[in-house]
Amino acid sequence: MQAIVMTATGGPEVLVLEEIPAPRAAAGDVVIRAEAIPVLFPETKLRAGEFPLGVEPPLVFGFQAAGVVTEVGTDVDPALIGRRVTVATMRFGSYAEFVSAPADSVTLIPDGLSSVDAAAVLMSGSVALPLLETAALTGAETVLIEAAATGIGSYLTQLAKEYGAARVIATAGGPEKAEHARKLGADEVIDHNDPEWTTRLRETLSGTTLDVIFDSIGGTTALDLLDTMTPLRGRMLSYGWLSGAPAQLTATDLITRGLTLTGCAGPDWLTRVANARTATLQRAATGTLTPLIEAVLPLDQAAHAHQLIEARSPLGKFILRP
Ligand SMILES: NC(=O)c1ccc[n+]([C@@H]2O[C@H](COP(=O)([O-])OP(=O)(O)OC[C@H]3O[C@@H](n4cnc5c(N)ncnc54)[C@H](OP(=O)(O)O)[C@@H]3O)[C@@H](O)[C@H]2O)c1
Repeated sequence: MQAIVMTATGGPEVLVLEEIPAPRAAAGDVVIRAEAIPVLFPETKLRAGEFPLGVEPPLVFGFQAAGVVTEVGTDVDPALIGRRVTVATMRFGSYAEFVSAPADSVTLIPDGLSSVDAAAVLMSGSVALPLLETAALTGAETVLIEAAATGIGSYLTQLAKEYGAARVIATAGGPEKAEHARKLGADEVIDHNDPEWTTRLRETLSGTTLDVIFDSIGGTTALDLLDTMTPLRGRMLSYGWLSGAPAQLTATDLITRGLTLTGCAGPDWLTRVANARTATLQRAATGTLTPLIEAVLPLDQAAHAHQLIEARSPLGKFILRP
């Protein structure tokens, strides 16, 4: 089969198309014939060596895929064969014609939802839903969604009002992404490429405060944001560090303002994310969450997709089609 092998950590050129043997289903696993493989933002960080890989290359790259089950291992229900599903691999292996993954990562794709749409919404939608549940919005609150034009931020923006936000302020990089965030549901958008964006935020708030911040940027701006939050009620949900570092805050910074920071990462959080996959695909199938797709590309364009993501150009997911 054809697969994208990551030969070493480094630039997108380390992702190389190779002919390799197809995987067989081990006990507890399924194998699918992949129809749609999402290229995920965190994968670019792993490829670049910015996040620990946990295993030495060479390896077949990628973590998620949608397709049709062709084989099941022992202890797996054979009725899955022929079903359209999404899978999440434990240790890479999804940028390929055939993908092996644990059977407990399987999510059935509802009728009426394409494999491309399922692959596009799977990761980001499944993070957005538990974030919104954790926020426990009251119906009268103001939220800030960072990096709202793409990925998790784009699904938070689509759903924030349904989950009880009264006012949605978003950040996005540049005018095209700002316009996109507005179309997704943001009331006001601030350009986070402006080094003074937190000052622009204060101007936008003009004395009002933020009840919830969905923080994906992290770094030093997180501290700067605390004084825009509602004392004794403000909640920061920290789930990413696009700036290169998690939110740089101390307990004192929070305690003296009566604010809460909830970490939304780590193994238990990822279990919640996995548990949200069925609801995410169901929403996409019924039209209450719109999958956002930049382009469907042949498998051999994986490196090109990584380049474009690093250039911050796409508005939706790149989907690889073997
Ligand atoms: N906790 C979890 O469960 C979980 C799961 C998956 C991902 N994550 C994390 O969540 C964050 C977002 O991931 P995603 O998959 O949703 O990404 P994404 O939105 O698909 O792509 C990242 C976006 O972030 C913006 N960006 C890039 N560098 C930035 C920077 N230095 N400062 C501000 N914005 C920047 C870019 O938009 P603009 O062009 O608009 O700037 C880019 O489109 C990442 O930090 C990721 O590692 C967390």
